[in-house]
Amino acid sequence: MKVLVTGGAGYIGSITAAELVQAGHAVVVFDNLYQGHRAAVHPDAAFIEGDLRDTDAVKRLFQEHKGIDGIMHFASFTLVGESMEQPLMYLRDNVIAGSNLLEQAAAHNVGRFILSSTANLFDDPQTMPIEPDDRIVPGSPYGESKFFLERLLHWFERIYGMRYACLRYFNAAGDTANRGEDHDPETHLIPIVLQVALGQRDKVIIFGDDYPTNDGTCVRDYVHVVDLAQAHMLALENIQDIGSRKYNLGNGNGFSVLEVINAARKVTGHAIPLEVGPRRPGDPAVLIASSTNIREELGWEPRYPDLEQIVSSAWEWHSAHPHGYAK
Ligand code: UFG
Repeated sequence: MKVLVTGGAGYIGSITAAELVQAGHAVVVFDNLYQGHRAAVHPDAAFIEGDLRDTDAVKRLFQEHKGIDGIMHFASFTLVGESMEQPLMYLRDNVIAGSNLLEQAAAHNVGRFILSSTANLFDDPQTMPIEPDDRIVPGSPYGESKFFLERLLHWFERIYGMRYACLRYFNAAGDTANRGEDHDPETHLIPIVLQVALGQRDKVIIFGDDYPTNDGTCVRDYVHVVDLAQAHMLALENIQDIGSRKYNLGNGNGFSVLEVINAARKVTGHAIPLEVGPRRPGDPAVLIASSTNIREELGWEPRYPDLEQIVSSAWEWHSAHPHGYAK
């Protein structure tokens, strides 16, 4: 297939684009390099630097790359906390970017669309693990922007017959030998913990230890980025046959912040000092995914469900690239 990967120079997008190339697909990457890195783009993928908010650039993209069979839409502002401070970056920009993309996708009869969605749709979970059809309560303008794109897809299927999959990632983590997580600023737990092990930070601050969990720290469902990439490929290959789908992606196991730090201590051999700070606004105590439907319908089976494996794959990349990609 010919696949357009927006955000294909970013963390999850670049790793998925590389998997697509390796599986024999023709890949076109479109990325504004806001958080992405040119060096992360697989050399056999076509690369266009551009911004989805620029309507003309999106039109040109589809004129110059005819015959796109499917789109994986990773490009997005992605931070819950930032979205609480700058809501329009999310409620305007993420929505405009996605709308421009969908407009051209429909105009060029693209039949398959895979959306990077989020666990932040479930801010007030009634049960754990969270099922894909559980009640949606976006936890932030970020989550709301993804929910709006999910709703756009609903209507684009009804009106234009576009098949879609909404993939709600829980906590994407881990790296591959050649590609890894390199954000500026870094806000995610695992890379921050590894920066302490690399001597780039003095300590990890735990955002609250008074949550109603076993050790008082927040529990999350960490899922390896390569397993996320596989879920994208399975969805791309199958939605024309099985129909549009919404999948929550995680391992179904929760790990606390302290457990993640302990796993990193074991993997790196570093003491990783910590300090307990106040809660971070907007953090739910526990988020665990139920991925039963994608396992049953598509045979998705995470290859790296173990926390230590996830952390050690991240350590391998971060210790080989202590300053991330060459700037
Ligand atoms: N944490 C710390 N200290 C840090 C960083 C994080 O204690 O320095 C804690 C957080 O409070 C949270 C856990 O580690 O409990 C994981 O935090 P991350 O920032 O790594 O990830 P989030 O769970 O906040 O965010 C992830 C995705 C978002 C998505 C969200 C859904 O990165 O895109 O899950 O809730 F929206």
